[in-house]
Amino acid sequence: MAKVVILSGAGLSAESGISTFRDSGGLWDEYDVNVVCNYDSLEKNEDLTIEFYDKRRSELEFKEANYAHKVISALKKEYGNKIAVITQNVDNLFEKAGMPSEDVIHLHGFMPEVRCTSCESVFDIGYKKLCDFNNGFCKECSSKLRPNIVFFGESAPMYENLSHELSDCTLFIVIGTSGEVIGVNSIAQFAEQSILNNLEPSDAIKDSLFSKVLYTQATQAIDEIARDIHGYLIEED
Ligand code: APR
Ligand code: ZN
Repeated sequence: MAKVVILSGAGLSAESGISTFRDSGGLWDEYDVNVVCNYDSLEKNEDLTIEFYDKRRSELEFKEANYAHKVISALKKEYGNKIAVITQNVDNLFEKAGMPSEDVIHLHGFMPEVRCTSCESVFDIGYKKLCDFNNGFCKECSSKLRPNIVFFGESAPMYENLSHELSDCTLFIVIGTSGEVIGVNSIAQFAEQSILNNLEPSDAIKDSLFSKVLYTQATQAIDEIARDIHGYLIEED
């Protein structure tokens, strides 16, 4: 259980050139997310859904971690279990910033992975298309593979880890999420201290519940956030 929980969303990777969900731009304009990200997408629109994730996976190869990913990665290295790094992002930019994959909790899945629809085995396929990995079939049981992504309406097993980390959290930090999917208000209310960093106010977030609010780019805010984390953890010792 961590004292400091850093919960991030699409805004953290925006400066690395990955489009957020609720702003316009990129692949999200080309595809209807309700058609390719829904629990029944693989059943109803399999080819389009696989194609959408193949494109996003291949796009990742050329994206680089930004300064905020790097600072968070360094903090995690320094403080270990005192900090939990939890993200709604399915990209691998924390990993590209040098964070071991076991140190990042990916709540909504991980783009470089595919999963068996039958035995649930997970395979890392890097930036490949799904069909270019064993023809799109599981190496263990030969069933169909699918992206290892949590679609709308599907269960998200990693939420259990989120609850676990939050149970002891006293400093809660939110970076780059609209709070539409994970309600951050009640968490901020119960934490001793809390910091919110987004570009602008969001309808789903009551910013008066946070001890500090930074409406600016994550790469601009991260040094101040890091100073607060250092100060907080030093005081705790
Ligand atoms: N720095 C900081 N914050 C930023 C930046 C930036 N450079 N750019 C955008 N933001 C903020 C916006 O102000 C917005 O509040 O990031 C937030 C992005 O919100 P969303 O697009 O809604 O992304 P997110 O909250 O991560 O979405 C949650 O929804 O569709 C699902 O599963 C998907 O994980 C995703 C989840
Ligand atoms: Zn299988």
